[in-house]
Amino acid sequence: MEEQPPPPKVLVVDDNEPNRVLAEETLLSEGYVVVLATSGEEALEVFVREQPDLVLLDVRMPGLDGFATCARLRALPRGPETPVVFLTALRDLETFDRASRAGGDDFLTKPVRPAELLTRVQTLLRIRRLSVELHDHFRVIRKQRDDLVRLQLQKEQLVSFVVHDLKNPVSSIELHALLLSRDASLSEDAKESATWIVREVQMMKRLVLNLLDIGRADDGKLEPRKGPVDIGEIAISVANAGGVRAAEREQQIKVAVASGLPSIEADADLVRRVFENLLDNALRYAPRGGSIAIGVAAGEGPFVLVRVADNGPGVPEAMRERIFDRYVQLDMPSIQDSRAGRGLGLAFCRLAVEAHGGSIWIDPSAQGTVFCFKLPHGR
Ligand SMILES: Nc1ncnc2c1ncn2[C@@H]1O[C@H](COP(=O)(O)OP(=O)(O)OP(=O)(O)O)[C@@H](O)[C@H]1O
Ligand SMILES: [Mg+2]
Repeated sequence: MEEQPPPPKVLVVDDNEPNRVLAEETLLSEGYVVVLATSGEEALEVFVREQPDLVLLDVRMPGLDGFATCARLRALPRGPETPVVFLTALRDLETFDRASRAGGDDFLTKPVRPAELLTRVQTLLRIRRLSVELHDHFRVIRKQRDDLVRLQLQKEQLVSFVVHDLKNPVSSIELHALLLSRDASLSEDAKESATWIVREVQMMKRLVLNLLDIGRADDGKLEPRKGPVDIGEIAISVANAGGVRAAEREQQIKVAVASGLPSIEADADLVRRVFENLLDNALRYAPRGGSIAIGVAAGEGPFVLVRVADNGPGVPEAMRERIFDRYVQLDMPSIQDSRAGRGLGLAFCRLAVEAHGGSIWIDPSAQGTVFCFKLPHGR
């Protein structure tokens, strides 16, 4: 059987005995527990001792009056949340204002009508119960939210440690697999396996580095380490590195670098990885037998302009901005491993390009997909 909560306890404070008795009897008849005080000073003592759920407080009393008593009561433990009803003979605006300034929740004029007294008391107790429940719910929800935030932070920290610790082994696997793939004493099969390892581990490295740099950018630490960069040379070298992969699906990569381009001040590693991510996308999302064209030319003003074009399915207009947000991927049923990545490549590209004061976008007028980015000369 469910336990009944104890009946609410009301403290009645009045220096006038008939008034006290009337209030007491009215409340007792409805099953309330009643405690009494005959002055403001006594009321404070009884409040501390009895911890009532509600206080009926006469305004005019010798010594501490009702307003002053209420103000002190609010400073006691449980004082702020316990409803206080002033009992007053003076029903005028000024008394009402003073009552609410003194922190009263309600006021009743004397002579008090029992039915009215009971209604006010019940209402205030109900409000109080609801506000306690609300407060409890709020506390629970806030704790759950804090726990979630803490967990989320722990998770992010763990991920960033793991990602960081992956970087070195991944790089060394790449290096050793590269050496193996060039070892003339190995059988063709073994060399092929080594080449396969190189390619997969390079994919892994790209993801790891994207994650690391995106994390760095979140912490405001993606600072390009600038030096003179020959961007045409980077384009050619990235295209060459993608050659084996392109050949597997009979794709062609062409690179056109305009002559006489100045070298730019940029972070060679970041720029290379922007190319790698764009080329990875082009190879992945363009069809078998498709063609990929990389162009590097002078842009308007002090910029070089790069285009990475493929004749694949293109990016729908509605997605051309959003595609640069993290974890955004298009549904591409025709592409087997379209979900093999994580939707971080373009997010990284935008961060890296913007860290240089450049920008990246999709050319809306072109056929297929054409990613363009421009980088300032940086001098
Ligand atoms: N050349 C492209 N042609 C068509 N769609 C593309 C092309 N490049 C990117 N997309 C679409 O944009 C999405 C986001 O690309 P992004 O490079 O950010 O992530 P991803 O390639 O899915 O994974 P990740 O690069 O992290 O391995 C892709 O999932 C794909 O749907
Ligand atoms: Mg990608």
